[in-house]
Amino acid sequence: MYSEFLDFAINLAREVGKIQLSYFRSGNLDITTKTNVSDIVTRADKECEEYIVKEIFATYADHKILGEEGGFRGNEASEYMWVVDPLDGTTNYSQGLPIFAVSIGLVHKEQTILGVVYAPYLKELFYAVKGGGAYMQCGDNEALDIRVADKRSLDCSVIGTGFPYDKGVNADNNSDNVARIVPYVRDLRRMGSAAYDLCAVAAGMLDGYWEMTLNLWDVCAGNLIVQEAGGVIFNYRLDRKISIIAGNGTIIEEIKRYIQ
Ligand code: IPD
Ligand code: CA
Ligand code: CA
Ligand code: CA
Repeated sequence: MYSEFLDFAINLAREVGKIQLSYFRSGNLDITTKTNVSDIVTRADKECEEYIVKEIFATYADHKILGEEGGFRGNEASEYMWVVDPLDGTTNYSQGLPIFAVSIGLVHKEQTILGVVYAPYLKELFYAVKGGGAYMQCGDNEALDIRVADKRSLDCSVIGTGFPYDKGVNADNNSDNVARIVPYVRDLRRMGSAAYDLCAVAAGMLDGYWEMTLNLWDVCAGNLIVQEAGGVIFNYRLDRKISIIAGNGTIIEEIKRYIQ
């Protein structure tokens, strides 16, 4: 039923990936700040979002879109909402670090039905349709179904996290959580793209992940990909936007012991 949407979203993600790569390490990023000096945006973020919006409305003129750079657009009454992060991992991207992605989710009547995340430099595509499992395709290889890792304890687990953009002015910035959990994990990663972190959990490359103060465009696609890979998304607090723990059911209970 959703295969038409999936083909569309995968093609779109691959085209957006080409735009991202065209500016990557170009020295032509036109970097400006948004809420503070940590929160930056580039020419590529804006151009990718414009391209996504144009393509979605060219095919689905009566749908609505929520995008990081432009907010809500389109038919407010539509049952379909595309939730897009045109470039997740802008800080990595601006530094020439290769972990960045485009994230495209589709919500139908309040339920996420599709998620596509594409990391073009890595040539890694992740996707899921509700009820259909989760898949990863590397380069031109065949897509393979993915499952979350089955680790049972933190001491053999590698866990991802991230820091909010208001970390400089708000002491509630995840550093306490990091200090508490570090002694008990095999290692910690701050990879710099929430969408990619979630896909890494889905594919068992990370054993778990938590982050606070995310937005819907960061997690819409990735959350579904984790769930379709057999994982769990737990919203661990409601006062800091979207704050989640991801992993298998056992590992999220372990992470919960150290995280506030
Ligand atoms: C950010 C990245 C980062 C996470 C931030 C996000 P952006 O998204 O996902 O890993 O730590 O919270 O805002 O701004 O690069 O799209
Ligand atoms: Ca951003
Ligand atoms: Ca993002
Ligand atoms: Ca972004």
